[in-house]
Amino acid sequence: MSEKYYIKTFGCQMNVYDSSRIADMLKKEGYEETKHQNEADIVLFNTCHIREKAAEKLFSDLGRAHLIQLERSEAGKDTIIGVVGCVVQAEDEQIIKRAPYVDFAVGPLMYHKIPQLLQKIQQNREEHGFVETDFPAESKFDFLPENRAQGACSYLAVQEGCNNFCTYCVVPYTRGVEYSRPVAEVVKEAKRLVETGTLEINLLGQNVNSYHGEDENGKERGLAYLLHKIAEIDGLKRIRYTTSYPADMSDDLIACHKDISILMPYLHLPVQSGSDRILKAMNRRHNSADYLRVVEKLYAANPLLKMSSDFIVGFPGESDDDFQKTLDIVNKVKYIQAFSFKYSRRAGTPAAVMDNQVEEKVKKERLDILQTLLFDYQDKFNKSCIGKTMPVLLEQKGRHKGQLIGRTPYMQNLHVETKSDNMNKIINVVVSEATTNSLSGKEI
Ligand code: SAH
Ligand code: SF4
Ligand code: F3S
Repeated sequence: MSEKYYIKTFGCQMNVYDSSRIADMLKKEGYEETKHQNEADIVLFNTCHIREKAAEKLFSDLGRAHLIQLERSEAGKDTIIGVVGCVVQAEDEQIIKRAPYVDFAVGPLMYHKIPQLLQKIQQNREEHGFVETDFPAESKFDFLPENRAQGACSYLAVQEGCNNFCTYCVVPYTRGVEYSRPVAEVVKEAKRLVETGTLEINLLGQNVNSYHGEDENGKERGLAYLLHKIAEIDGLKRIRYTTSYPADMSDDLIACHKDISILMPYLHLPVQSGSDRILKAMNRRHNSADYLRVVEKLYAANPLLKMSSDFIVGFPGESDDDFQKTLDIVNKVKYIQAFSFKYSRRAGTPAAVMDNQVEEKVKKERLDILQTLLFDYQDKFNKSCIGKTMPVLLEQKGRHKGQLIGRTPYMQNLHVETKSDNMNKIINVVVSEATTNSLSGKEI
């Protein structure tokens, strides 16, 4: 019987993609996936360091994993515990100091080392506690085995790292400098995803629209070029890309929203704040007028396009007036979905040592007000879909028998009664009901 691995993933889509590539690697080595942690011979946590809560959660999970490790050991079974991802890059050796039962810890740019580390540990169980946090010169993507579809919807990383250094953010420290994969490599991976069952590809990058990969002739190409190449793949039905940085939304990329019919009419373009003073303190390369100009161009390129965003409330120095400007921009753009967070102080970032930190109570009040407004727009948009026909890509079983759940072009969850062999297909549905979080409808 082959050995089993279990992966728990925290954080952003990039981590979801990374976990799928780690799984590709482990499968190639002969391991089998399990969804049950207590039957896993290898337990991996793919971690996120973006906000304090995300990082703290890891240590409670690790404590639980240790108990399972001890229980299994009494039954004569070995369990290797590994931590990968952004927390490792930030905490380095501290992870092993805080959780000495962790057998290895590998940063996000080094996960191609995992099979070697596993072998080393299995050969000599006395030796463990390895930490790998280099930013290697070579690309980790060069060492990965062939990918497979993650389902009808797959992620594909095309760019990694960030040179923007927003003053609140750990990503430039955990993922390193910007790197773009060559065009041919991305197209090859995309084709393989489609061949193995993917209908929708979501191109990923910490700043995906700063993509500047080389083509076969060594010429640098932007994301617009890459999107056109990928759109040519036979059998691919939907394309998305995320996350984009407002100042890098070029006109040729905006034009893709008019010219590429399978590019979904939905764009995640985080503004963070509506106040120019705060955007400046955040070191964002856009002000609110720049942002609104981009949004206008996008709406002109495709009048059906809708937007989503990320927001931070309570950034150091944010006044009531600054916060009001955030509400104002929400009212202008009318986002149909959004993520909003209280500012979290991250050690090593410039904002963490700014002396005008906002009180927790004020952050909470502002978050409540912002979320009420955002949910209101989300709810209105969902209700406006009632009576409309939408193509839905079905990817999950519903709670009731005969029910499947899929995504609309706008990333809304939609529940529908349909035959089970429609799983992983796109069907047309007339929307009959809508709540803030989901839609339901009838197949036509
Ligand atoms: N590259 C993307 C965002 C990546 S991080 C961009 O520039 O938009 C995802 C989101 O986490 C950010 O958009 C931001 O809203 C939030 N975030 C990052 N650091 C944070 C912090 N210190 N406190 C609270 N939210 C934070
Ligand atoms: Fe973080 Fe800013 Fe880079 Fe986004 S652009 S990953 S928020 S530093
Ligand atoms: Fe978190 Fe790292 Fe993504 S810090 S948000 S997992 S890039």
